[in-house]
Amino acid sequence: MSKIKHITCIGAGYVGGPTMAVMALKNPDIRFHIVDINQARIDAWMSDELPIYEPGLDKVVKETRGKNLFFSTKVDEAIKEADMIFISVNTPTKKYGIGKGRAADLKYVELCARQIAEHAGGDKIVVEKSTLPVRTAQSIKKILKSTSNGYKFQVLSNPEFLAEGTAIEDLLHSDRVLIGGDQDEAGQAAIQKLVEVYNSWIPRERILTTNIWSSELSKLTANAFLAQRISSVNAISALCEATGADVEEVAYAIGTDSRIGPKFLKSSVGFGGSCFQKDILNLVYLCEFFGLHEVARYWETVVSMNDYQKTRFASKIISTLFNTVSGKKIAFLGWAFKKDTNDTRESAAIYVADQLMQDQANIHVYDPQVPTEQMYGDLNELETRSDEDNRAQLTAYDDAYEACKDAHAVAVLTEWDEFKADQLDWQKVYNSMKKPAFVFDGRLILDREALTKIGFEVYTIGKGK
Ligand code: NAD
Ligand code: UDX
Repeated sequence: MSKIKHITCIGAGYVGGPTMAVMALKNPDIRFHIVDINQARIDAWMSDELPIYEPGLDKVVKETRGKNLFFSTKVDEAIKEADMIFISVNTPTKKYGIGKGRAADLKYVELCARQIAEHAGGDKIVVEKSTLPVRTAQSIKKILKSTSNGYKFQVLSNPEFLAEGTAIEDLLHSDRVLIGGDQDEAGQAAIQKLVEVYNSWIPRERILTTNIWSSELSKLTANAFLAQRISSVNAISALCEATGADVEEVAYAIGTDSRIGPKFLKSSVGFGGSCFQKDILNLVYLCEFFGLHEVARYWETVVSMNDYQKTRFASKIISTLFNTVSGKKIAFLGWAFKKDTNDTRESAAIYVADQLMQDQANIHVYDPQVPTEQMYGDLNELETRSDEDNRAQLTAYDDAYEACKDAHAVAVLTEWDEFKADQLDWQKVYNSMKKPAFVFDGRLILDREALTKIGFEVYTIGKGK
């Protein structure tokens, strides 16, 4: 059977871009073409300023771009030329109609399937790279079959497990790659072709192959389990504060049990990002669809605990500042949903800011990677107040010290290294603030003792007095 020579990826986002760039780096004999309907995004991929901030990405793109990695908006052409097509478009939570607020909106995926069927011009392997509800492959197959002039299509599921901020490392050294496909001969042959692409750098024993439904469901399940660990430790953080226990000590103590393990036990102001909440809600919707109401309720609590944690943090700021933040200046260090990314989707900072702004606080933000307009966009999406009011109540700065000047309180919302005690001059911050000066550490990155010595009143998530 002939080897793959041309791979097209539809969707040049946080997943499509880095994933294909690394594949191109490791497969110099394959031509990769990433396409997107968003011209500005494609222009940015072709420029020196890539559309996403991701450590190590620049280097990989520079090494491959123009050699075997290409970007364009020519979706139809790219479909035609490819042997294998990755669908890597967004699958956000539905904002309308049946399943609103829970189900994944699959309209972009369906559009891709229709476009592939129309422009295929030959047999293709179609790979689901987007995170999709289990049994989506069935719909894709149906569309491809019914519109496709007799060409043969194989649909594979190959969910992506990279995390933002560490995407390149995750891709280069994946714990595992998962490929699901049909169990018949043609399905197995298609799986084998994708195995070969990955096997140029991932050891064969780390490439897992399953049936297509297991692969689709494993992705939602992996995210649900990871998020559940964070909600569990965050639930305990509230109890720590009430009892005098220290959530970091508890997390360490339980994480040394090899059955539990140490990762993803860091208490925080709440998980954000484009995946966890969306994928759990999607799982909840699926469970309800199949009549599994108890299962749905079980997973739903992971999201409600996360909402509670964000609200709890904002409420703590208000109650500590003598029960009112009206007209007060609250400095936010960080707006991204985690460090080393410019992504702000579902970032806890947005919700904490919104709650404080409802109490008429003025928010002054510094984030090293997030553009100011993106912050306003995030707040506008909540539709709590007008764009004009958001602009009046939130100001962004290019400098952490400027953001903190004259503030009544500083809140750490993202764990950027530059906010840590050995990198930011906290004495300077203290000197410039209103007194008493409060610090709210939502990321467990500050040295509470050192800050207290300076004169700050410090609140740390999960630490009792
Ligand atoms: P994204 O929004 O950054 O990128 C998606 C891109 O697809 C956009 O640029 C959009 O313009 C483009 N697009 C949409 N419809 C199109 C069409 N018909 N033709 C061409 N381009 C089209 O999204 P993302 O973060 O890269 O996520 C993509 C998928 O991967 C989602 O299903 C997500 O759940 C999943 N995923 C994301 C991550 C992550 O860390 N972001 C990790 C694993 C999986
Ligand atoms: C996640 C999954 O980790 C990844 O496998 C999947 O492909 C996409 O979704 P991502 O959202 O990019 O990745 O980042 P992740 O590192 O998982 O962090 C998600 C959120 O959880 C962040 O807000 C992070 O700050 C928070 N988090 C993470 C915690 O609060 N505590 C932890 O211990 C770990």
